[in-house]
Amino acid sequence: MERVTAGKECLRFSVTERSSFLEEVLHGLRQEQKVLPCKYLYDARGSQLFEEICELDEYYPTRTELAIMNRSVDEMAAQIGEEVLLIEYGSGSGRKTRLLLDSLRAPTGYVPIDISGEMLAESAAVIENRYPDLTVSPICADYLSPVEIPSMDKPVRRRIVYFPGSTIGNFEPPEALEFLTRMVKQVGAGGGLLIGVDLRKDPAELERAYDDAEGVTANFNLNLLERINRELKADFAVEAFSHVAVWVRDLGRVEMRLVCNVACEVTIGGQVIGFRAGEYIHTENAYKYDVSEFESLAVKAGLSPRAVWTDTAEKFSVHYFAVSDDSC
Ligand code: AVJ
Repeated sequence: MERVTAGKECLRFSVTERSSFLEEVLHGLRQEQKVLPCKYLYDARGSQLFEEICELDEYYPTRTELAIMNRSVDEMAAQIGEEVLLIEYGSGSGRKTRLLLDSLRAPTGYVPIDISGEMLAESAAVIENRYPDLTVSPICADYLSPVEIPSMDKPVRRRIVYFPGSTIGNFEPPEALEFLTRMVKQVGAGGGLLIGVDLRKDPAELERAYDDAEGVTANFNLNLLERINRELKADFAVEAFSHVAVWVRDLGRVEMRLVCNVACEVTIGGQVIGFRAGEYIHTENAYKYDVSEFESLAVKAGLSPRAVWTDTAEKFSVHYFAVSDDSC
């Protein structure tokens, strides 16, 4: 099978991709509650800002998940088993992956799937150098779209999806269920899922994690408008918008929003969109789950809970699930 490499062609959108970006933006901004798809936060600049977020004092998930991995990665590797094909969704910088690969016994292949071509190419190259026996096949794609997993020359005992970072929290629960169900199909019988899931906690701590004192998260969120200006030749007055993060208890999620402080109009692709003063665009959700709550969701998708690891303060969880016998 042709090796899909991450390269420059992936950094620039094709004509069809650009038109779907425009369509999705216009569609979202025409809703009663304006919304933009959070996947567009991650252009090269957005991905770089997200890396900075991960280093912030207020943003506990990255550091906490890393600590959990550091402490329990051998147990995770034992659950996963040997000669596996590791598929990673939204591979990012790959630090946690290296920890995992260091502990796995004779992994056969590694397939990182990421929408950010630059990140993907960099981290895939690092992994390739570090694990010469591992077949590394990066795929530059939105992991929401079905991707074909390349076949391997060497034996694969099972397919494992690694989905760290609590990115599952971006999905509304029905979408999360659909996503997990699709993932179960992708790994098939005997497969498994190692997934990082952020836990419910004090609202003030949650809101701080998504609205840091230095304003890095604000810049990350506002970059979405700058990106729309750049790529779609729009004219957002970015300085008229402010970033806010709100814990919505009834829904169990942190919402990132861009509030428009003054009434204004924006032209995008020749279409005019009006904003009232105080109106906001909803740009991202970060759902938080209890351990048992997430397990119930996974069970509905055809997964069996096998193990769960948390930090001592119970801020974050890493679950291992096996595909249930009756789901394939
Ligand atoms: C990458 C989706 C896991 O929701 O915590 C961080 C993204 N947004 N700060 C998260 C994010 C603002 C992050 N995920």
